[in-house]
Formats: sequence, C-alpha cells, structure tokens
Amino acid sequence: MKHENIEKNVGLMIVLILVAVSFGGLAEIVPLFFQKETTQPVDGLKPLTALQIEGRDIYIREGCNVCHSQMIRPFRAETERYGHYSVAGESVYNHPFLWGSKRTGPDLARVGGRYSDDWHRAHLYNPRDVVPESKMPSYPWLFSNTLDGKLTARKLETLQTLGVPYTAEDIANAKAGVQGKKEIEALVAYLQQLGTVLKDKR
Ligand code: HEC
Repeated sequence: MKHENIEKNVGLMIVLILVAVSFGGLAEIVPLFFQKETTQPVDGLKPLTALQIEGRDIYIREGCNVCHSQMIRPFRAETERYGHYSVAGESVYNHPFLWGSKRTGPDLARVGGRYSDDWHRAHLYNPRDVVPESKMPSYPWLFSNTLDGKLTARKLETLQTLGVPYTAEDIANAKAGVQGKKEIEALVAYLQQLGTVLKDKR
C-alpha cells in the first residue's frame, strides 16, 4: 500500500528519485576530493605569471573558450592529434578552469610551444592570413589596447586565497609586470604556456 502511494504521487516520486540518484553521484564525486591525483599539482606546475593571468582574462573576455576546449580526452584519436591527455593536476591553479567541451576550433590544452609568437600574432590579427579557410574571428584591437595593471595585484591576491601559491613578491611586482604592455603580448604569453608542463614528458 505504501508503495502505491509513492507511485501515485508524482511530487513525492520525483523527490525520492532524486534522493536515490544522488547516492550514485555522491559515491562517484566525494572520493575525488580526497584523492591526491585530483587535488595536487603535477610536478613542475607553476602559477601563471602576472602577464599570463591578464592574458587568461583576455581569453575569457573575448570568448575564446566558447570555441576552444582545453581538455584532451584519453582516447587515441585525441592523443595522436593533441598530445598527452589532460590530467587534473595540471588544472589545480585554474580558477575557474576552462576545460569546456564545445570545439568549433581545435583543443588548445597543449598549444603552448606548437607555434611561434609571430604565428600567434599574425593568426590573432587575422586568422585567414595564415589559415586561409579559417572561420575564427579577427582580434585587431588586441594590438592597440594597452594594459594598465590596476587590478593585476588584486587578481593574484584573490587567486592566492583560493590556494594558488603566489608569494608577496609576485603580488608586489604584478603591476610592473604588465603595465604598458599590449593585450596581444599577454594573450600570447598565456597561450604559449598552455599544457607545457606535461608535454615535455611525452
Ligand atoms: C567562432 C569560433 C572561434 C573563436 C571565438 C575563437 N577561435 Fe580560435 N580557432 C577557431 C577555428 C575554427 C580554428 C581552426 C582554424 C584556424 O587555425 O584558424 C581556430 C584555431 C585557433 C588556434 C590554432 C590551434 C591549432 O592547434 O592549430 C589558436 C591558437 C586559436 N584558435 C586561439 C584562439 C584565441 C586565443 C581566441 C580568442 C581570442 C580564439 N581562438 C577564438 C575558432 C574560433
């Protein structure tokens, strides 16, 4: 009889289904918080420099992550094309992480070092100058916008509160590290470090 009541009451049924399903979710998710593999940085991982942090913020502002994922899955088709699959320990200093899943363009998790700085500059100024069939947008304003560095130190401080090991010196020098530079320099500096920590060990 009791079971019949549940089956005839949609609201109650929904609540109980959610409770039942959440057990499965918890059993998968909770252990991840306690596994070193998912919470500790990989060997040699360094926090992004002040300039790279500004580059990352430009990457987010311009919506690069809308077309590009940063997550190489552990399948042969992916590792043959992009390199070693992504591991959680590479992302522990990223807040928020930019893994994504939509790929209008290629995955960028290991694009660092694949092209020269000059290639990136030409490509971002007008992608069709280097890849004629490209449908990626052009970003010419990155070459004239200048960084003032006003908020850079506070950005590093905020990341520090989230566990990114910036030193007092890093924070004190943050503004000087970016002030007067063009946005394109910051963005290319950010792109050139992507995925390089594990790449060398491939
Ligand atoms: C509308 C979707 C779209 C957006 C937004 C976009 N891209 Fe792309 N991107 C592409 C496509 C498509 C390609 C492949 C063709 C090419 O190389 O231009 C590409 C290629 C690239 C490549 C070369 C990757 C490789 O392995 O060859 C880089 C680097 C890149 N994009 C960086 C960026 C950055 C940085 C931004 C933001 C400033 C950005 N993209 C925004 C679609 C996009």
